[in-house]
Amino acid sequence: MDFTRLHCFSLVIFISGFVFPVIVTSIGINYGQIADNLPSPENVVPLVRSIGATKVKLYDANPQVLRAFADTGVEFIVGLGNEYLSKMRDPDKAQVWVKTNVQAYLPATKITCIAIGNEVLTFNDTSLSDNLLPAMQGVHTALVNLGLDKKVTVTTAHSLSILETSYPPSAGSFRRDLTEYITQILNFHLKTGSPFLINAYPYFAYKIDAVYSALASLGYKKLPVQISETGWPSKGDEDEAGATMENAKKYNGNLIKLISQKKGTPMRPSSDLNIYVFALFNENMKPGPASERNYGLFKPDGTPAYPLGLSTTTVLSNTSSDATSPSPPASSATGYLSISSTPGRSHYAISRELPTWGKVLKTLLILGYYVWGMITRKKHEDFDLDIN
Ligand SMILES: *[C@@H]1O[C@H](CO)[C@@H](O)[C@H](O)[C@H]1NC(C)=O
Ligand SMILES: *[C@@H]1O[C@H](CO)[C@@H](O)[C@H](O)[C@H]1NC(C)=O
Repeated sequence: MDFTRLHCFSLVIFISGFVFPVIVTSIGINYGQIADNLPSPENVVPLVRSIGATKVKLYDANPQVLRAFADTGVEFIVGLGNEYLSKMRDPDKAQVWVKTNVQAYLPATKITCIAIGNEVLTFNDTSLSDNLLPAMQGVHTALVNLGLDKKVTVTTAHSLSILETSYPPSAGSFRRDLTEYITQILNFHLKTGSPFLINAYPYFAYKIDAVYSALASLGYKKLPVQISETGWPSKGDEDEAGATMENAKKYNGNLIKLISQKKGTPMRPSSDLNIYVFALFNENMKPGPASERNYGLFKPDGTPAYPLGLSTTTVLSNTSSDATSPSPPASSATGYLSISSTPGRSHYAISRELPTWGKVLKTLLILGYYVWGMITRKKHEDFDLDIN
């Protein structure tokens, strides 16, 4: 990194502190780090603040990040990759992990949750799935033994494809072959007071309502649900027609609006959905189609990937004092690779994956959904993030 670029980076952080309004409601952001060109975590603190985010989700427990966010009040979900599941069954190993990766940063860094594995059940790998709950239990037991279980909860993030039926939303149900796993995990949530996490690409209120219905059908009506990932790529390959800056701006802009309006879903209109936007940065080392590397709100140099279109008339951010003097990005040329086991996340690319009949079917489903909405006199569109 040369000096000019360093200056540029500071300037951008400075400006973004003014341009983005303070958003009172809390936005969550996924901070993925599968890249070799990201700014040092100290310089990420003002970026996170500039978008009004008060919650960050990691895919690991990166020590530099956890240290950089000490005393910032930002809440953290730390992650534990799928490759650690079998190890965490062992309470002793789980305890060592919790001591090193969680307890060491408390209370300065506000770690509130540990997400064990990502989208484990939809890998269809029974040896992995069999380890999920025991790993969650192992980590929870470690927290209990360390006296941390009231401060830190344990959960896992699911893909929406754990649903067998998502339409109509009232008929939402989980995949039958996963019901056994899911029921036990839900019991764990109930017993330990942890939230149910779901990754939703793209976010549609009816999909979340389908999750609520599926939960209710198993007897878990009141379990808190959080959207652990949703987002839209600003760039893609030639055959990824929807992945444009314009769409990403609309989607994420509307998403942030929806969060700030504290809008739930038609089924739970008043429930304050915790939503984690995917993602903070474009990540240049992610495999797969180009869209995978372009989900970020920010480019690695700290400039916005596109204007989010938020109003600039609201209160000026009080982060500018921090932002004017960010410490220089230390060794951003080296970076680090986070441990992540996210499978190909191609959920957004409906138009890319579906054959023509599929598109027709999707259109019919959406049409049916709105008609159903009119019949039931519910303004579903108010809850949806439609970018079309
Ligand atoms: C997992 O199994 C389900 C249902 O049998 C199937 O629809 C899905 O495509 C499978 N996913 C993977 C990643 O193999
Ligand atoms: C900004 O924050 C500082 C320190 O946290 C505080 O003293 C100051 O009053 C705040 N200013 C505004 C305009 O809120």
